[in-house]
Amino acid sequence: MRIVLFGAPGSGKGTQAGILEKEFGAVHISTGDTLREAVVKGSAVGMQAKSYMDRGELVPDEVVIAIAKEKLASLGSNGFVLDGFPRTVAQAEALDAVLAELQKPLEAVINLSVDEEELVRRLSGRRVCPKCGEPYHVDSKPPTVADKCDLCGASLVQREDDKPDAIRNRLRVYQEQTAPVLEYYRRKGLLRDVEAKGGIDEITQRIKSLIGVR
Ligand code: AP5
Repeated sequence: MRIVLFGAPGSGKGTQAGILEKEFGAVHISTGDTLREAVVKGSAVGMQAKSYMDRGELVPDEVVIAIAKEKLASLGSNGFVLDGFPRTVAQAEALDAVLAELQKPLEAVINLSVDEEELVRRLSGRRVCPKCGEPYHVDSKPPTVADKCDLCGASLVQREDDKPDAIRNRLRVYQEQTAPVLEYYRRKGLLRDVEAKGGIDEITQRIKSLIGVR
């Protein structure tokens, strides 16, 4: 499996990528998760990225392209599910070049399509595990024990960029800088649109049938 999960903030990329990783062993590569880990560690990349992330702006292309290249180069024979990368046409072009070098061409770009009202509902109700990254939602995916991660027991937190001003900014940035990438992949014949409103399992089934796996 060599796919990109594409979509606006809150469309379910991380949730679906985690499921596909567990079921098919394809490595889930999330530039957002890697950047958040760098922020927690206080590395040079993390310090550079933090202010962009908190405001809901994109981190500069050269920073995220370097992260994606390193992750992809270390895959060995494994497949991958990219989540949150590429997000600009420059990133998409860089991805093409890396995958050509690795001889691992993309099979599909799955565009998770969700209306804005639902995106805001998902993002404002999201809670995440700061330790293992598992995402939850106060209504649609609550943890078994209130505010505790089902997988590792850590106390759940709300992401800084899931506060109202940052959500509004992220949705604007998506429309202006990321949505044009859709046309890039449509022209290459790789784009597959998925209606991504509905139950989490239902959407996994739609993705699986589009890429021909069970
Ligand atoms: P990143 O972490 O990639 O955030 P994002 O793209 O904004 O996406 P989200 O993680 O918010 O949402 P998601 O689509 O993964 O949804 P999820 O599955 O969690 O990036 C964060 C920041 O890092 C960026 O703003 C930028 O600054 C920087 N960055 C990262 N990559 C970059 C790049 N390539 N270039 C430049 N900068 C970059 O689901 C959301 C919620 O909905 C959860 O609570 C979940 O439980 C719930 N949910 C999921 N599916 C459903 C469903 N079907 N029904 C009901 N609820 C659902």
